[in-house]
Amino acid sequence: MADGFLGFKTSFMLDLVVCALAAVVPALLYSIYVVKYKHKFHLHKTMQLALGIVLLLTVGAFEIDLQIVHGGWENIVAKRDVPLTPEEFSFVHSLLWIHLVFAITTPILWIVTIVYALKRFPSPPLPGDHSPLHKKMAWASTIDITLTSITGLLFYYFAFVA
Ligand code: HEM
Repeated sequence: MADGFLGFKTSFMLDLVVCALAAVVPALLYSIYVVKYKHKFHLHKTMQLALGIVLLLTVGAFEIDLQIVHGGWENIVAKRDVPLTPEEFSFVHSLLWIHLVFAITTPILWIVTIVYALKRFPSPPLPGDHSPLHKKMAWASTIDITLTSITGLLFYYFAFVA
């Protein structure tokens, strides 16, 4: 388990966060489907709150593990059987920066979307005056987390798998 559970030289938390990133997008699409086409507003609210909490806890635990226990991603990459060439390392580093742009903006946008929704939609939730603003923020959050997921998975692939 010291090397993760997906079969590559990584860490348990890195593998867990990669699974969470891969799972969050289909779960989010389902939550949007139930609100948009089935009008199950309460289910959508519950799913969004649950997704927000799970993501926050997973990413928080991941960051503590990565920075404090492992001392940064470079130490995990150093476990590779075949080390990255300087060019590959620089490519992976650039990918990480792109990933961080989305990974840092996503929780901010996600929290703002949830806080506004909780304050401005009635409970139990129903469409209302807040709907137009919620849809704009919510689609922006959706695109942001999807890009976080895609760039995170690309980073994992090029740093640890390829
Ligand atoms: C980051 C969290 C959230 C995201 C990403 C999100 C996503 C979305 C999206 C994309 C839509 C629009 C679907 C369409 O185009 O018709 C939507 C609608 C809606 N959401 Fe959320 N949502 C979030 C949190 C919440 C929360 C916490 C509540 C309740 C307190 C909520 C209540 C609603 C309602 C009532 C609608 C229907 C609006 C209408 O059709 O007029 N959402 N959500």
